[in-house]
Amino acid sequence: MALLHIIYSSSTGNTEYVVDTLIAALHESSSKLIVEKQRAEEAQAEDLLKGDVLLLASGTWNTGGSEGQLHPRVYALLTDRAKDCDLRQKPCAIIALGDKRYFYTARAMEHLVQFVQQHNGRSTESLVIVNEPYGQEEKVQKWAQKLLTKIPALAS
Ligand SMILES: Cc1cc2nc3c(=O)[nH]c(=O)nc-3n(C[C@H](O)[C@H](O)[C@H](O)COP(=O)(O)O)c2cc1C
Repeated sequence: MALLHIIYSSSTGNTEYVVDTLIAALHESSSKLIVEKQRAEEAQAEDLLKGDVLLLASGTWNTGGSEGQLHPRVYALLTDRAKDCDLRQKPCAIIALGDKRYFYTARAMEHLVQFVQQHNGRSTESLVIVNEPYGQEEKVQKWAQKLLTKIPALAS
């Protein structure tokens, strides 16, 4: 059995909807996979090391007053509580959301990739959802298949 640990945050429910759509698709395709989801505000540094694969999911927000930033609760986790975390080559997948109306569309992706790289993680697959996720379920479902086939740790 493989374990996927998801850490995410969501204010409007958009990121949570994408995460839940992903979990449903993963469960439909694999009976060997255990998926845990955890809100960033409830997570500590050691939670990033849980499971075989870590998935970080965040919308893009104007945290700290400038656009193109991580969701404030993901920001607080990654830049404060988990700032010294060593991911020890853990495979990490990433989901970022954003909205086309903003100049730095879905920039949360860059921050998450940077976090993984700077903390000794192994970036694997990434998914960007721009605008409302409702109606984009197929994109998420296809990405679920990609995760299952491309990340060896999830196939075991
Ligand atoms: C105050 C505010 C600031 C935002 N800033 C950005 C931004 O800089 N870039 C972007 O692509 N989207 C931005 N968004 C859009 C959100 O990232 C998008 O609506 C996302 O789906 C929200 O998901 P969540 O509520 O699950 O975090 C912003 C939304 C709000 C309300």
